[in-house]
Amino acid sequence: MSPQQEITNLTVLIRKYNRQYYSGDVSEITDGEYDALMNRLLFLERENPEYCSVDSPTARVGSAPLTSFSGVIHDPPMLSLSNAFSRDDFLSFNSRVLNLLKLDQVKYSVEPKLDGVSLSLVYENSVLVRAGTRGDGIRGEDVTDNARTIRSIPLRLNAHRLSVEIRGEVFFTVKNFKKLNRRREESGESPFANPRNATSGSLRQLDSTVTSLRPLSFMAYATGRYPDGLETQEDLFKKLHMWGFMVNRQNRICDTPEQVIAAYNNFVEVRADLPMEIDGMVIKLDSFSQRAEAGSLSRAPRWATAWKFHAEEMSTTLIEIEIQVGRTGRLTPVARLEPVKVGGVIVTNATLHNQDEVIRKDVRPGDIVIVRRAGDVIPEVVTSLPVEGAARAKAFKMPGECPVCKGPVVKPDGEVNLYCINPSCEARIRRSLEHWASRKALDIEGLGKKLCEQLVDAGMVNSIAGLYSLKYHELTALERMGELKATKLFAALEKSRTIPLSRFLTGLGIPGVGEVASRDIAAEFRDLKTLGDASEEALLEVKGIGPVTASSIREFFTNSVTSSVIEQLVKAGFNPVEEVSGKGISLAGEIMVFTGTLEMPRQKAKELAMGAGAKVTSSITGKTTLLVAGKNAGSKLVKAEKLGVRVLSEKEFLESAVN
Ligand code: IVH
Repeated sequence: MSPQQEITNLTVLIRKYNRQYYSGDVSEITDGEYDALMNRLLFLERENPEYCSVDSPTARVGSAPLTSFSGVIHDPPMLSLSNAFSRDDFLSFNSRVLNLLKLDQVKYSVEPKLDGVSLSLVYENSVLVRAGTRGDGIRGEDVTDNARTIRSIPLRLNAHRLSVEIRGEVFFTVKNFKKLNRRREESGESPFANPRNATSGSLRQLDSTVTSLRPLSFMAYATGRYPDGLETQEDLFKKLHMWGFMVNRQNRICDTPEQVIAAYNNFVEVRADLPMEIDGMVIKLDSFSQRAEAGSLSRAPRWATAWKFHAEEMSTTLIEIEIQVGRTGRLTPVARLEPVKVGGVIVTNATLHNQDEVIRKDVRPGDIVIVRRAGDVIPEVVTSLPVEGAARAKAFKMPGECPVCKGPVVKPDGEVNLYCINPSCEARIRRSLEHWASRKALDIEGLGKKLCEQLVDAGMVNSIAGLYSLKYHELTALERMGELKATKLFAALEKSRTIPLSRFLTGLGIPGVGEVASRDIAAEFRDLKTLGDASEEALLEVKGIGPVTASSIREFFTNSVTSSVIEQLVKAGFNPVEEVSGKGISLAGEIMVFTGTLEMPRQKAKELAMGAGAKVTSSITGKTTLLVAGKNAGSKLVKAEKLGVRVLSEKEFLESAVN
């Protein structure tokens, strides 16, 4: 078979499996088989670049960074929607529509209003040629390279030579958003405030390889112009799905206003359980000809409206801005609020993130502010509403010293946050005790937030090590601490002394070292002494550890206060090691690829890797964690480097797999 033919065949097959995957159908093949097809296609395209097309399924890993976005013009413009906030608002919308159309009843399509970023996708002859953000509705930004990295955006439609503009929403599922923020916190980056911000930030990256590592999703809900032969939104959703798009499973057709109201009430109820955040329900005339008759105003159509959920944003008065000091010393401004019920929960505090945010939103004590709760995210102050003529407090400024220990604060280069750098700061100690006792660290039953606070306030404990020299009679002297409780706590503390190195490390709370990094570091160094002696260079060898984290680890082990805490823990009987079985599980969790010519047979190498706990796949994707490169490694090596995947030589691999 000619390479051209094979490329075509593989492309057809891979597209089919992509569709199965994204329409939620059962996949006919395993991930490994999928990777094998992809890998073969990558190989053929590399060897025969003349047959490589822009819509190849391999085009998902991002391309060279841009210096700026160019503009796109939306024709027809991307309109916004009028809002309804209540049943009455909806009923007046409905009356207006019926009046315009001179009808007694109409069918509506009701759809969850996804809280993401809207995107226009232009397909020519079924191939994705351009993606643009909404911008002001007429002019947006060209984010084609970024859109190509989103796996639920088909690069080619499942249709014959179709030219069409698809409109829809890019968003993070709640699960992916949490995962992204966890990853960011572990690597010392500040988390995104909410999925919408994260989406917009990810979509507007000049370097599309960054976007390719952000697990975004896309759902379609409209076309630029109505395609020939389609008459209703219901038909359109069927077609969109057939062409290869995800459409929302919650979309419904309603025959009566009562059904629309019931659908709204249902959304309010199921909202918290949906996989993505929604901020309301969009109501559209189902019939396209009725839409044409109803027409549009300059900014919004008369045939649709967004019935917004109300309760998750409320206004209240900001009493004062307090500074919270976290375990790492980070200073976070927190708004103390007049209690207000937001989305069914009483909120008294909301985060203001950092000084830049407080200034940007210009919130001051005494202001009327809007507070938002979105899903599980901590409540935040969205904005302040100026009251004309009212006197205001002075603009907020972060303090020049730690509000708890009065020690100096610093702002590291390139950071928006300020830090208290005194490791003996009481606030930091309290928080580090809580963290040490938490489930993901030492999991010390009975040592909760309240007790941590009591112990520090009573001056009984001034570091995590202090927990292990507590005396029984001291403990029972505390309020609400009976003998039984004290005995149990001692038993839990005793048990915690045998914790493995990875959990011990997590518990130390070294900046930038979360659960994942702790496991990787522990697997590499195995015991505390070896880790304590490790140089920055040696630390940098560990997967996922960059220069900032490496230096933060060194600093922790050499700083006089933190190193003495470690010493005291050792004296208290800690000797944490990471157990690695004889066969070696040092590659556990790795998703590995081999490339190039190896000295040993490829199969043997794979077996070794799997025996050491790794999963072996054949192509480099955003999930790959490790590449073993033999002689004459080619495009996979380039791609791995581009994605920042750790690369080992065959010799290095042997050393890590066979120990
Ligand atoms: S239809 C004229 N359908 O809501 C039709 N929009 O305020 C306009 N949105 O910018 C769009 N889910 O980002 C439509 N199912 C849905 C939607 C939806 C979310 C967003 C979209 C738009 C905004 C309108």
